[in-house]
Amino acid sequence: MAMSRKVTKAVFPVAGLGTRFLPATKSIPKEIMSLVDRPLIQYAIDEARAAGIEEFIFVTSRGKGALEDYFDSAPVLEATLKAKNKTDLLNVLQDTDMDSGAIAYIRQREALGLGHAVWCARRLLGNEPFAVILPDDVIAGKKPCLQQMVEAYENTGGNVVAAMEVPKEMTSSYGVLDIQEDMGALVSVKGMVEKPKAEDAPSNLAVIGRYILTPDVLKNLDDHSKGAGGEIQLTDAIAKEIDRSGVYGFRFEGQRYDCGSKSGYLQATVAFGLARDELRDEFLSFLNDIVALGKAAE
Ligand code: UTP
Repeated sequence: MAMSRKVTKAVFPVAGLGTRFLPATKSIPKEIMSLVDRPLIQYAIDEARAAGIEEFIFVTSRGKGALEDYFDSAPVLEATLKAKNKTDLLNVLQDTDMDSGAIAYIRQREALGLGHAVWCARRLLGNEPFAVILPDDVIAGKKPCLQQMVEAYENTGGNVVAAMEVPKEMTSSYGVLDIQEDMGALVSVKGMVEKPKAEDAPSNLAVIGRYILTPDVLKNLDDHSKGAGGEIQLTDAIAKEIDRSGVYGFRFEGQRYDCGSKSGYLQATVAFGLARDELRDEFLSFLNDIVALGKAAE
């Protein structure tokens, strides 16, 4: 029987050490860092919900307690806001509500790599297709990225990875696709290489943090074989499906910010600040001033 193409489960691997944001990440999870007033994880959850996800599986590690609390009820805070008739703030809090049982936390005991993190969720995923969302990739766009991918996947089946063109000198930061056939938004894939040097990269089409995967990928991770950087790589496990269930790259519409890097995080902060009606005028005039000052000083 053909596998159902309904995707209802998503894995959020958040067990990394977040070393690029030390010392901040010594005591707060990277995913709790905020763009304006919403933590990165909130954007990821909103995107998953828009794509029809009903079960949210977090792969966490020691020190990520703030993440679990974020999605819990906050009785004292809620009672105080209610007593003060702050309905607008109560509404804001509603986005953080999770039905009991909709969210699960699995521990990755050691940060052995993204592939290993996803594998840790295998028992909760069962034999269904599932999504993976890396919350430090934040994507702004009219239609949420994962929703675009779910729609593409309904036609393709197999494995669909979000892809974007990057400058050649950046390929060593990404998984890179070797393209079989370029069909526009979709490309079929004949190879995948994790973090190739520019001269070894088969293209400049890079994989970013959104995936729809077959459960076979989990089986491919069973042997824990290590890839680039000595880590258990998700890319390698997906690549094994190229001649089996098939792998497609999907050029999504939207602007992606790499909030796992300081520069990407700052760019996202500016973009999301400017996108807010209540902040735009004051913030823009500040930015104009600071740019003018910088130019005058040159
Ligand atoms: P990164 O490569 O960004 O690593 O992981 P990191 O630890 O989060 O950050 P840096 O590089 O030290 O600053 C990409 C995603 O995979 C998860 C991370 O939490 C992040 O969402 N991950 C990575 C795990 O869950 N487990 C791992 O073993 C590795």
